[in-house]
Amino acid sequence: MKEPIVYLNNRWVPLKSARISPLDHGFLYGDGVFETVRTYEGRPFKLAGHLERLVQSCRRIGLSMPKPAEKFPLLIDRILARNKIKEGMIRIAVTRGPGPVGLDPGLCPVPTLLIMAFPFIPPLESLYAKGIALKVVKTVRNIPEAIPSEIKSSNFLNNILAKIEAKQSGADEGILLNQKGDVAEGTISNIFYVKQNGLTTPSLKAGILNGVTRSAVIEIAKKKAFLSRKSFSARRASLPQKSASSPAPATKSCLPQKSTTSKSELDYRGL
Ligand SMILES: Cc1ncc(COP(=O)(O)O)c(C=O)c1O
Repeated sequence: MKEPIVYLNNRWVPLKSARISPLDHGFLYGDGVFETVRTYEGRPFKLAGHLERLVQSCRRIGLSMPKPAEKFPLLIDRILARNKIKEGMIRIAVTRGPGPVGLDPGLCPVPTLLIMAFPFIPPLESLYAKGIALKVVKTVRNIPEAIPSEIKSSNFLNNILAKIEAKQSGADEGILLNQKGDVAEGTISNIFYVKQNGLTTPSLKAGILNGVTRSAVIEIAKKKAFLSRKSFSARRASLPQKSASSPAPATKSCLPQKSTTSKSELDYRGL
């Protein structure tokens, strides 16, 4: 692959020569927000929804957007063209920017904007048939009273701890519960499952990210009259213990749970 070109603070630069200050508060404190957008055939999926959430995340942490949201679609077209990407992932990060050490956002007058685009590396085809192994982890999802869930924060330690735990147990992905013990979300995903022929997903009241993909899936499911419940407290025990012998059809953004998941892995009192 050719050296990727990224957009950093108003300039197009090769990834290998892109430089961010060691004093950037995004680096020092995880003080920033981001979005990841999948592209299909050169078109970003639900870009407006992602940009809306980026604006909202910035507003929620008192960070001024380095550019108005209307400027982003063109930048994104350009980054895809420059990197010749059709099936890809775009990552937009806005951080507090460089400033003296200290938590006060007032120390950082100029935010950092970094847009990168990478080719999408699809999961193995076999996983769509077999599914992946999930682990309900002990790490509890950050409570919205601490970090409001509408902020897509660059500080992903909560999710990283969950991922470490899942991997240590041999699973591919972790499921986080919220403080009440209800199913919340995956480490980088919202959760849907099929039970009694209906699609089920935790409510936003569970303190989860209002996922753009989640909204799209709900919209489609409603049209197809396939959504059984949404506003519910999904107790861990209500997760399907085993997926059906033929797993739920998965889109290229959703992977089914491995059909071999044992009962004990999902047993509510197991931890
Ligand atoms: C914790 C978490 N939940 C859900 C999602 C899915 O969000 P979206 O569909 O808006 O990309 C992500 C994506 O990064 C995530 O990190």
